[in-house]
Amino acid sequence: MKIGVLCSLIRKEEKLLFDEFRRRGLEFIRIDDRELVLDLHHRQWDFDVILERCINHSRALHTLKYLNDCGVRTVNSYEVANTCGDKLLTTLALIRDGVPTPKVYVAYTPESALRAIERLGYPVVLKPAVGSWGRLLSKVNDRDAAEAILEHKETLGSYHHSTYYIQEYVEKRGRDIRSFVVGDETICAIYRTSPHWITNTARGGIATNCPVTPDLNEISVRAAKAVGGGIVAIDVFETADGLMVNEVNYTMEFRNSIDTTGVNIPAKVVDYVVEVAGR
Ligand SMILES: Nc1ncnc2c1ncn2[C@@H]1O[C@H](COP(=O)(O)OP(=O)(O)O)[C@@H](O)[C@H]1O
Ligand SMILES: [Mg+2]
Repeated sequence: MKIGVLCSLIRKEEKLLFDEFRRRGLEFIRIDDRELVLDLHHRQWDFDVILERCINHSRALHTLKYLNDCGVRTVNSYEVANTCGDKLLTTLALIRDGVPTPKVYVAYTPESALRAIERLGYPVVLKPAVGSWGRLLSKVNDRDAAEAILEHKETLGSYHHSTYYIQEYVEKRGRDIRSFVVGDETICAIYRTSPHWITNTARGGIATNCPVTPDLNEISVRAAKAVGGGIVAIDVFETADGLMVNEVNYTMEFRNSIDTTGVNIPAKVVDYVVEVAGR
């Protein structure tokens, strides 16, 4: 079985995955995206599966597209990475499949964005469609803040800020849920609790175990299926109307969730990678 791991800097997650491959006596080839040169005309890639663990979204996306076109199975697929890497595409996929998700408006100019914000009603959350780790999110509480942020985005923002992704603010009482889906199963979940409205653990949110109830399992697996399946991490809000999916992540970090949940996440990932290789 020929397994590849596409990666860059080796984080705690990649170390744990490598250890798990080695523990099982599974050989793998490390493909460093910093050294990679893709010959687009050469399409002979002799791998049974390649696990994608890049940090950089565009490197992951382009390499996955190339590999899938060459007939190589990847975890995750290009389609999944493309959808999850873009919050607008993720929201569309969730809505298409009837997965509950907060209201979102999209606009392209500061003027139309302001109209959308006021139609949705304060507070709203503005997000770059492509981004992670809670970066450059804005909770907009009133018109003064909306005008200031829209002007800043237009004047100082890069291309990524030219699409205004405007989401209703969800009162989530100090925490959200991060659930981990591998294939057809929600393997575990954590609560992320923070005094700040942004609860990412990368931003100081505290992880504690969250039981995987039938409801949480169902919405998580449905969200994973909506974006194309594989190995994904789902951000879920608990609301008065039940659970809602905020977003889906395709190259998940899990270092804070193994001891917290007691679930050997790298082992579940390797099980799945081996299963895909055998298909
Ligand atoms: N609409 C919202 N209502 C309430 N909290 C939100 C909302 N959107 C994001 N958050 C908070 O900010 C965090 C990061 O937002 P998210 O959309 O997951 O972006 P990222 O890709 O940066 O993780 C969420 O985990 C949640 O704590
Ligand atoms: Mg998130």
